[in-house]
Amino acid sequence: MAPTTAANVGLAARDASGHLSPLTIARRNTGDNDVAIKIMFCGICHSDLHSIKNEWQNAIYPIIPGHEIAGVVTEVGKNVTKFKAGDKVGVGCMVNSCQSCENCNQGFENNCPGIIFTYNSVDRDGTVTYGGYSSMVVVHERFVVRFPEAMPLDKGAPLLCAGITVYSPMKYHGLNVPGMHVGVLGLGGLGHVAVKFGKAFGMKVTVISSSPGKKQEAIERLGADAFVLSKNAKEMQAALGTMDGIINTVSANIPVAPLLGLLKPNGKMILVGLPEKPIEIPPFALVSRNKTLAGSCIGGMADTQEMIDMAAKHGVTADIEVIGADYVNAAMERLAKADVRYRFVIDIGNTLGDCAAAASE
Ligand SMILES: *[C@@H]1O[C@H](CO)[C@@H](O)[C@H](O)[C@H]1NC(C)=O
Ligand SMILES: *[C@@H]1O[C@H](CO)[C@@H](O)[C@H](O)[C@H]1NC(C)=O
Ligand SMILES: [Zn+2]
Ligand SMILES: [Zn+2]
Repeated sequence: MAPTTAANVGLAARDASGHLSPLTIARRNTGDNDVAIKIMFCGICHSDLHSIKNEWQNAIYPIIPGHEIAGVVTEVGKNVTKFKAGDKVGVGCMVNSCQSCENCNQGFENNCPGIIFTYNSVDRDGTVTYGGYSSMVVVHERFVVRFPEAMPLDKGAPLLCAGITVYSPMKYHGLNVPGMHVGVLGLGGLGHVAVKFGKAFGMKVTVISSSPGKKQEAIERLGADAFVLSKNAKEMQAALGTMDGIINTVSANIPVAPLLGLLKPNGKMILVGLPEKPIEIPPFALVSRNKTLAGSCIGGMADTQEMIDMAAKHGVTADIEVIGADYVNAAMERLAKADVRYRFVIDIGNTLGDCAAAASE
């Protein structure tokens, strides 16, 4: 018996105002290799805000954003072996890829030229993808991760984007070795998770920030070992040449040269934030003492599973503010002002239905 197309409601932006309101859409039938998921929680990533306001000039309206999806399996296709109904699962930034190129074969679907993002992307069947601010989603099993028993769906959801975005470069650039010293530049959605992974890896973690108010947060709430106020010349001077690496999560155009000065010889700065304008690098700051500047974008599916398993083992979760679906536009306004500690997560399971019903009255 062929499964029927599932009716689905989501919160959609229709234009560059970015205003989100309920929209009924259809998801594809659960194919042989697909997993159908009832969405319980979805994190709000800064990319969602950029996308709905068309700040990256690639919007395909209507957009239903959301790529930090946590939920429960409701149905699996006949070829699916990894999941069954009732399993707790997550979906991150991508829902498909070519699945046959060198990148995909090595487990780096995130580097596939045919990567299909979770929303605002044209899938291989020609349909536009819709994200997790919605009641359910159908995804190929390859792009679904298992939630470990100990990982809560709400605090775990942001790990699907924020978590893997910092975990992957820490792993591949060797910034996961006990006793090493890592700097985390910026203490937002990405940065606060980077601090927790750094501590889980057994490293010394220093938060570098331009906000003095973040010091107490960094050390007392998140467990960082030290804090450097980037606009305080004395503190910057004292930290010169002390760090093995810096995870740069900042999305603003700030001068990078003084920060490269904090690295030891052979030190690495990894960019994971996306400032709007090009970054200026005075060559001397990079060339002297053999520094590396690298970039990293999310991570492959095997690494995403490894990341959430490791997070569960070490109690790493995101610090979140859970909101109802009817608060999503207010949350976007607050996010634009960085007024959140540290991630909004929408309680889709309990609130999206009522929000949609109220809108249609
Ligand atoms: C499902 O498995 C069957 C038997 O192995 C295979 O013939 C079929 O092509 C598979 N379906 C998909 C969509 O991969
Ligand atoms: C320079 O940095 C690279 C990359 O970290 C490293 O592989 C290489 O060994 C370094 N060279 C020297 C001479 O230290
Ligand atoms: Zn994201
Ligand atoms: Zn591929």
